[in-house]
Amino acid sequence: MDSFLPSPDRDAISKTYNGQIDSHLIQKTNARYREILPNLPRRKGWMTEHLVQYQGVWLTPNAALKGLMWVQDHFKPRSTDIFLATFPKTGTTWLKALTFTTVNRTRYGFADHPLLTTVPHGCLPFLEACPNDLDGFPSPRLLSTHIPYTLLPNSMTVNQSCRFVYICRDPKDVLVSKWLFMNKLRPKELAPISLEEAFELFCQGISHYGPYWDHVLGYWKASLESPEKVLFLKYEELKEEPSVVVKRLGEFLGYPFSLEEESKGVVEEIVKLCSFENLSNLEVNKSSVLKLSTQIIVDNRHFFRKGKVGDGKSYLTDEMIKRINEITSEKLLGSGLVFGS
Ligand code: A3P
Repeated sequence: MDSFLPSPDRDAISKTYNGQIDSHLIQKTNARYREILPNLPRRKGWMTEHLVQYQGVWLTPNAALKGLMWVQDHFKPRSTDIFLATFPKTGTTWLKALTFTTVNRTRYGFADHPLLTTVPHGCLPFLEACPNDLDGFPSPRLLSTHIPYTLLPNSMTVNQSCRFVYICRDPKDVLVSKWLFMNKLRPKELAPISLEEAFELFCQGISHYGPYWDHVLGYWKASLESPEKVLFLKYEELKEEPSVVVKRLGEFLGYPFSLEEESKGVVEEIVKLCSFENLSNLEVNKSSVLKLSTQIIVDNRHFFRKGKVGDGKSYLTDEMIKRINEITSEKLLGSGLVFGS
């Protein structure tokens, strides 16, 4: 059992990309994976038994590590690609819904919109899960990724004009959301991970794609250096003023809302369609499942828990809150980035 992302296992990659990517190169990546894996630092995992540390980031040893190596070695970006970059549990599902709807708003009507029958993850795939028809996707490709900015290949960040939208969230809410979600996916044979354990690991940076603060800072710095390429959002701001943020999103992605659309209330329609209340109450998100790999099937309802700002604090002790706030202040010192209380 591995990450909740679909597993880009090597046979599947070879089959899928046979003829498109040199199979010799794929074999080289696979050989390198097998060679490095046993020597990587290992710590307790949240959903899987272990996480391994590769290039400074903690990953599930199978899907996430293979996915990262595949992207670094083989992914061929297009200048029109749009990536939604997130640390798990910071608002990926919501951002996917909003972006998919904004970019495709002239294509799909609100009455029979794909989001009414498909979980947002089914509308916009993960890059590192390398869906088999990525090369066949029409431009602009909408893809999401959990890979830290600093680990992305230059072909994505320097040599191409791809655009990134990043969303971050208060670390206390991320930690609690992640702990609850991962325990739901943790195999029965592994004892559930306690909040105290999860807290300790999170503070030490040991969680999927962690350390969290490094992940956030990587995209934050990129957004300061290249604001035309990286749009940096906060979950809390999106909650507070969703219409304002959706307009910024449309503008940034090259799909600005016209005055006519604004006066017709298109922005508000998008916000309403993608709201927690609407999506979490749809039949597809209440009772269907998402097949992420042959072994991992996730109930769509797990992607929608409370969708609130500040809920993490109700699970954490005062001491835990103090410690995580101190780590956050220390890590973000001088960056210009701040989270709420
Ligand atoms: P909580 O566990 O705090 O409720 P991700 O999509 O990155 O996995 O993040 C999941 C978090 O986003 C969960 O937070 C989930 O409830 C919340 N979420 C999902 N859809 C949302 C939406 N449409 N609006 C606001 N929050 C949403």
